[in-house]
Amino acid sequence: MPATVIVGLQWGDEGKGKTTDFLAEDVTAVVRYQGGDNAGHTIMLGEEVFKLHLVPSGVLYPHITPIIGNGVVVNPATLISEIEMLSARGIATDRIRVSKHAHVIMPYHIALDGAMEARLASAAVGTTRRGIGPAYADRAWRIGIRMEDLLDGAALRGKLARILPEKNATLQRQHRVDGFDLDELVALAVGWGRRLENHLADTTQLVQERMARGEHLLFEGAQGTLLDLDHGSYPFVTSSNPIAGGACTGGGIGPLQVTEVLGVMKAYATRVGAGPFPTELTDEIGEGIIDRGREFGTTTGRRRRVGWFDAVPLRYAVAVNSVSSIMLNKIDILSGLDEVLICMAYEVDGKRIDWWPSDADVLARAKPIYERFPGWKEPIHGCRSMSDLPENARRYVDAVERLSGAQICLVSVGPERNQTIERLPRLQRPTTASALGSAATRAGSEATAER
Ligand code: GDP
Ligand code: IMO
Ligand code: MG
Repeated sequence: MPATVIVGLQWGDEGKGKTTDFLAEDVTAVVRYQGGDNAGHTIMLGEEVFKLHLVPSGVLYPHITPIIGNGVVVNPATLISEIEMLSARGIATDRIRVSKHAHVIMPYHIALDGAMEARLASAAVGTTRRGIGPAYADRAWRIGIRMEDLLDGAALRGKLARILPEKNATLQRQHRVDGFDLDELVALAVGWGRRLENHLADTTQLVQERMARGEHLLFEGAQGTLLDLDHGSYPFVTSSNPIAGGACTGGGIGPLQVTEVLGVMKAYATRVGAGPFPTELTDEIGEGIIDRGREFGTTTGRRRRVGWFDAVPLRYAVAVNSVSSIMLNKIDILSGLDEVLICMAYEVDGKRIDWWPSDADVLARAKPIYERFPGWKEPIHGCRSMSDLPENARRYVDAVERLSGAQICLVSVGPERNQTIERLPRLQRPTTASALGSAATRAGSEATAER
């Protein structure tokens, strides 16, 4: 009963969508465990491009059950339009399951996100303005609306009647923007509930029953370790825990049920939004990487900031996620460079640091200490084995692997499923007696989990 967690090791956009899609063939369900429609996961199938924000990336395989776990914050309008987009393109969507306990991003969360960013001005986080922070804040404050609340209009009206006056007061008096009308919000939310009712389920029960049946499940993270609320460079982070541990709180598995943590990273660094970025490139090398790598946000269309590969947070990310194997994406984008640099450590106030400080002020003062590697000129999109790669590209992969302390098992040389080199077998932790899941055997039938 294997469970694989797919986790971003950098600032998001590492290619988790491609990785999930590549691995999904062998699993029965893919579970998103945190984040919301701030995520943008791109999958390319021939000429077809799918950009997914909420629906797990396994949806393109007909045999997969895509599950949105309790740790995700759901904007129902985005979910409905994504379901409709997939249906219109011939993808079966009835099988999509959404946790009854997932929190709803309400219109006032989106308004508050935008208003707060505007107020922070030069200190803004550069959020996606999707209402992620305010929705998670209300969850922690125990005044959130959950997906199941959308099914009971009267109870929902009662909850909103208690919450809305304060939200409106903040929006109108502090931020000088429009508030929301209770009747309109209730009507909107009840409409969402009606549309999504058949998709709602106790997803933890679904996950545990499948684990008990010995099925292989994938848990798809959004964002990345360096945007983690606890482990990233706070406050320039998102409001959830993208790290592998988030799969337990937000996906419905226990820590000992996880048999594999596949860390996803790309061969250079990118970041969207504000915050320190020690290896950032603002020269023509960076421009070239942005152009070749099409580094524009999937969700907001913003130009991503790019930089050299940074091994300092990599070691940290491998440790806090218990990474068992790595998939290295987008190495093809480095073709054509005379040399390729890797940041080995930082110099901060005259001292060498090789442990990720996460403190945004310290990071802002960090000067990268680089090691230089000879580049390679050849395009490598057609390579299907390590021996097809130019020697300098192989050396680069070896160097990154040495620095990470985990095995690079998969190397991606293009956005398509088949543009993937299987370099080494992935490591799986053997399941333990406790992982055999007494909880699962106690769980009821899958039918009772649905709604
Ligand atoms: P995610 O948020 O981690 O899923 O990543 P995004 O989808 O936001 O961004 C990754 C982009 O790189 C997508 O457009 C992918 O199609 C593309 N991609 C993934 N792997 C590779 C690769 O190895 N080479 C190239 N050229 N593109 C890739
Ligand atoms: P995927 O899953 C890259 C960034 C935003 C901002 C910060 C906080 O596609 O890798 P938020 O809207 O979450 O409150 O914004 O986090 N961010 C991402 N950056 N990829 C993502 O998702 C991101 N989701 C949020 O740009 O800096
Ligand atoms: Mg993305």
